[in-house]
Amino acid sequence: MFKKMRFSIPFSLALILFLGLSVSADFDKKWIKVSQKDSKHTEVATEMLMRKCKDCHTSHTEYPFYYNLPFIKDLIDQDIKKGLAYFNMEIEVFNKEFDSEISSTSLNKIKSVLENGSMPPLQYKLMHWDSHFSDTEKKIVTTWIKDLSNSDFIPIPSKEDMELDENLVLLGEKLFSDTRLSRDNTISCASCHDLAKGGTDQMQFSTGVAGGHGRINSPTVFNSVFNIKQFWDGRAEDLIAQASGPVHNPLEMGSNWDEVVAKLSADADYIVLFESAFGSQEITGEKVAAAIAEFEKSLVTPDNKFDLYLKGNDYALSDKEKQGFELFKKYNCNNCHLGVSVGANSFQKMGVYKDYFADRAAGLNGLKQMPLAKEDLGRFNVTRAEVDRHVFKVPTLRNIKKTFPYLHDGTIRSLSRTVEIMGEYQVGKTIPKEDVTKIVLFLKTL
Ligand code: HEC
Ligand code: HEC
Ligand code: HEC
Repeated sequence: MFKKMRFSIPFSLALILFLGLSVSADFDKKWIKVSQKDSKHTEVATEMLMRKCKDCHTSHTEYPFYYNLPFIKDLIDQDIKKGLAYFNMEIEVFNKEFDSEISSTSLNKIKSVLENGSMPPLQYKLMHWDSHFSDTEKKIVTTWIKDLSNSDFIPIPSKEDMELDENLVLLGEKLFSDTRLSRDNTISCASCHDLAKGGTDQMQFSTGVAGGHGRINSPTVFNSVFNIKQFWDGRAEDLIAQASGPVHNPLEMGSNWDEVVAKLSADADYIVLFESAFGSQEITGEKVAAAIAEFEKSLVTPDNKFDLYLKGNDYALSDKEKQGFELFKKYNCNNCHLGVSVGANSFQKMGVYKDYFADRAAGLNGLKQMPLAKEDLGRFNVTRAEVDRHVFKVPTLRNIKKTFPYLHDGTIRSLSRTVEIMGEYQVGKTIPKEDVTKIVLFLKTL
């Protein structure tokens, strides 16, 4: 338990020094503005959180009388600074007005620290025993979070709602399956993102020019417009920035804009299409990227069974599928897989409860043996921050039936096996077979 909390020595010291803080339940409510859907429940839950967490996660710390001693002041300030840096509850939770909802990421942060019992920190609880969360109190807060989180699932908007530029889409569609974007005219975007195969190639690793292989599974292009960032490690800001990646990647298309533009400019059809999309015949790499991105924006997949259900058609899901949805939430899959894409809106570590990469390198636990590769470092490759080691963009679960094999390393073909692995490594539970079956039924409605 101590290992989990990672507290520095000065921090523990400062905690003890917090001894002088008031333990009274009277606190200044004037600055709380929370007003969520179920306001009564919200009031109870947020007051409770404020009482127990505000000393370190808001600027409303109640300082002990000895705070002004220079040495002590520094220690306490340092810890408040750290607590605030990790989680500023004043901004993320308390100061919310009617129309601005507490983000699900903030709610999930609270939920996970309460569930693993790491907050308030143990030493602080020893000093402020009323800061401990009883099971009932925990339940009040987690139920509140759960209620608010029901709005976490959003139907996919229709193509019409995407406000597309039709000329650009038309051009982008042609470019997307044009092999001239590759050095040797063999590979198009569609080679690895086949729209008939759920926007993927259904291979562990794709084949690029001259038989080259990358070491990461190709994700779907469907609904990619909703991705928080592009690529597993989020290195591209948006679809336009993404599109020049594969063209230049030596293992994918191995080309460059100059080559591509020269080839396309020799094609009379393109001259016409570029003219009508951009009002000019000139072809540039940026224009190619913009047109492809606009076409990808059109690749939304609305009105799946789940969308119809979310829009109020209670019959859209069977009883078993509904049970699967409930289990999906019960196992907290929606901590990470939520939003319009049921994923793709946050970066999370692969291996929260167990070291997936150690197990995979050793071929343990039924995982296909594979040594650690640079791609496995995930977002660390972009930020170089230790906290981002093995952190990936949470994949969308939309159209999951067709986007096998699964995970960034493409090691798993079976959806049920993937769900079991998520249970073990991401939510810390062994999910019984019958629950796995129902969750899979639900996933297939996406
Ligand atoms: C005595 C100060 C203190 C109190 C009280 C406290 N925290 Fe923290 N909290 C910290 C510090 C310091 C960190 C930085 C992480 C660390 O050192 O482990 C932190 C980190 C966090 C994080 C971020 C964890 C992460 O890994 O991203 C959350 C969420 C959090 N606290 C929630 C709470 C909640 C909820 C409460 C009240 C129930 C609470 N904290 C009470 C000091 C405190
Ligand atoms: C040789 C196979 C290959 C080709 C060709 C290819 N891609 Fe990809 N694509 C991938 C792989 C593999 C990834 C994941 C790479 C990563 O995350 O590091 C990817 C990622 C993406 C993503 C990000 C999706 C997400 O969820 O992050 C988009 C969008 C995309 N490609 C579109 C395109 C477009 C547009 C083209 C043509 C210009 C293209 N791809 C060509 C294999 C390919
Ligand atoms: C802590 C965040 C988190 C939780 C909780 C979580 N997942 Fe995931 N999920 C991820 C990440 C990150 C990946 C990608 C991991 C990788 O590729 O190595 C992933 C991948 C998946 C995939 C494979 C998608 C693909 O296209 O490759 C499925 C299916 C999935 N999760 C289902 C679930 C289910 C079902 C649950 C609940 C039992 C769950 N997840 C809980 C973060 C999470």
